Amino acid sequence: MRKKFPLLKKHKNIVYLDSAATTQKPDEVIQAFTDYYENNNANSHRGLYKLSENATHILREARQEISFFIGAEQEEVIFTKSATEGFNALAQSLEVGRWNNIVVTEMEHHSNFLPWQQLAKKTKAEFIVAKSNNNLSDIAKYVNSKTAIVAFTGMSNVTGLQPNAKKIIKEIRAKNPKTIIILDATQLVAHKRLNVKTLDADFVCFSAHKLYGPTGVGILYGKLNLLKEIKPFLYGGNMINQVKEKDSTWAEVPEKFEAGTIDTAGIHAFAQAIKFLEKNDFDALLHFEDELKDYALKELKKLEHVTIIGHENKNYGAVISIKILDLHPHDLAEICSREDICIRAGHHCAQPLMKALNLVATARISLSFYNTKKDIDKFVKTIKKARKIINGWTLQRSITWTL
Ligand SMILES: Cc1ncc(COP(=O)(O)O)c(C=O)c1O
Repeated sequence: MRKKFPLLKKHKNIVYLDSAATTQKPDEVIQAFTDYYENNNANSHRGLYKLSENATHILREARQEISFFIGAEQEEVIFTKSATEGFNALAQSLEVGRWNNIVVTEMEHHSNFLPWQQLAKKTKAEFIVAKSNNNLSDIAKYVNSKTAIVAFTGMSNVTGLQPNAKKIIKEIRAKNPKTIIILDATQLVAHKRLNVKTLDADFVCFSAHKLYGPTGVGILYGKLNLLKEIKPFLYGGNMINQVKEKDSTWAEVPEKFEAGTIDTAGIHAFAQAIKFLEKNDFDALLHFEDELKDYALKELKKLEHVTIIGHENKNYGAVISIKILDLHPHDLAEICSREDICIRAGHHCAQPLMKALNLVATARISLSFYNTKKDIDKFVKTIKKARKIINGWTLQRSITWTL
């Protein structure tokens, strides 16, 4: 697999264990940009000439590919620039009053936390942060007749937990059928098949760059009736029906939400990423990734100074956070970097969760099907080495002090 990813093919030493931050890109995705700009570059929707029609056709094909991949209707897929933009956009378009409450969880990435916190502040709605309780199983407990919005994650970018989103959504609906339910699928979509229809969330957001596509493209899925109902969040070209001096009317969904020139090249490249996944049997790739995760857990458990956060059952994807006795995550990341191993250390843009876990930082590895057991072995070896280095420094310092 590695050789299908030009960066990994070229830089043979790199052990890339940070796919939760962004995945590497297959050749097809990189080539899609050259192909688009060399052969089809024009502003979509705008011109009546062949090139512009080509660009419009490419956009339509991409929307088809992406909507099919997540089980949505084509009009239900809105192109944004990222998952973050999707949540912020929704926070602008959804109606909330001071008599309402908004529920999120302490497991959220800041991008699915802050837009709701700020919306609650603006509207004076109550902001409720559900306890994570390790598995998010009781979000519905926080929902009542005043709950306008529940926003929660499909997979934690810190621990890899994949809560049973379908069950949680059912429970929320049973408590309040009017509550708008938003799922953050940014991590989930790369590790599990996502079908928005069976899931039954009202809105789902994710970013292309965590699913082998380019940066700068995001997906906001919404149920068609809701997309028709809510107001646009961006105003400008391409999203109107008629503009008059005093008021205006909007284009049909999805154009209503896609004001301005959108990133057709990036969207085209993202569609190539999805084609790549399907061509290489996405389910088999996920299965392999899962085996790799089990291997990593097995090897990490052998290290007595390492504590794995979560992963006590199978409800976790291939994202593993650890803490190590007498080794700060940043020191480990720095020593890994010297060995060309890319890992992430810090609060992972999830400070409420860090507080709940009583930690300031973790070291995180996140796996993809382009990783191998050898990558994990090298990481495990480097943890041992890092502890020796750090303990050596500490010992040296205390000797110097004693002298
Ligand atoms: C769970 C989760 N949600 C949302 C985001 C935000 O994604 P982006 O920065 O691509 O908008 C991230 C990014 O790491 C994430 O891990």
